[in-house]
Amino acid sequence: MYAPHPGYPPPPYMMLQQPPPYYHSGYKRRSGCGSCCRCFCCFICCLLVLLMILGILLAYLYMIYDPKIPTYKVEGMEVKALDIQPDFSVNSELLITVKAENPNKKIGFIYGTDSSVMVSYSDTTLCSGNLPSFHQEHRNTTLIQVNLKGKANLGQGLQQTLMENQKDKKIPLAVHVKVPVRIQLGSLRLKELTVVVTCSLVVDNVLPNAPISIVSSDTSVKFRM
Ligand SMILES: *[C@@H]1O[C@H](CO)[C@@H](O)[C@H](O)[C@H]1NC(C)=O
Repeated sequence: MYAPHPGYPPPPYMMLQQPPPYYHSGYKRRSGCGSCCRCFCCFICCLLVLLMILGILLAYLYMIYDPKIPTYKVEGMEVKALDIQPDFSVNSELLITVKAENPNKKIGFIYGTDSSVMVSYSDTTLCSGNLPSFHQEHRNTTLIQVNLKGKANLGQGLQQTLMENQKDKKIPLAVHVKVPVRIQLGSLRLKELTVVVTCSLVVDNVLPNAPISIVSSDTSVKFRM
């Protein structure tokens, strides 16, 4: 009597009673996917788990550091000199005060040396200068004074417009600041970014050594990698 042993193949006459496995519906598709499919699924799962861990980590860091964008404001302006020459060129010297406020509890900023500050009138740069390099600790407000000097050529038309603005007591100026900044998290210093601040101001006059009021100001801050 024949008793099939679990480890051995059945004798040939028994095999004939069953259709060969590849006639079985669905068998072919499963074999086409096989180990490749499993490998891919595994990869996707790992990726999802990694992304989830990364997300949780970022959320955690965000919660701990609670990052906030620092604010900058032109607080004051003083015209030390502004001479319009007969050839419509203008020599100017301005002193502007910028208020930099870091509202972060755990993040500091290190402002680098390679900065530029420019004041322009109707797209013509009047004068330029640099910010001092400094380290702003967390929760700190610093007033920065910047001395700007320059010579520009306004041309007849622009000079006339400036005179009219002066009469109306509404002179639109733009202050452009570009400064490299490193973000400090505890003792960790991150990669250097460039902060670009554009401040559109309207002042009531640009007469040398006269008090100047800032009628309105509008500031935008952008970070560039
Ligand atoms: C803010 O930081 C500046 C520059 O580091 C420093 O001179 C000033 O004393 C700080 N202000 C406060 C209130 O800590």
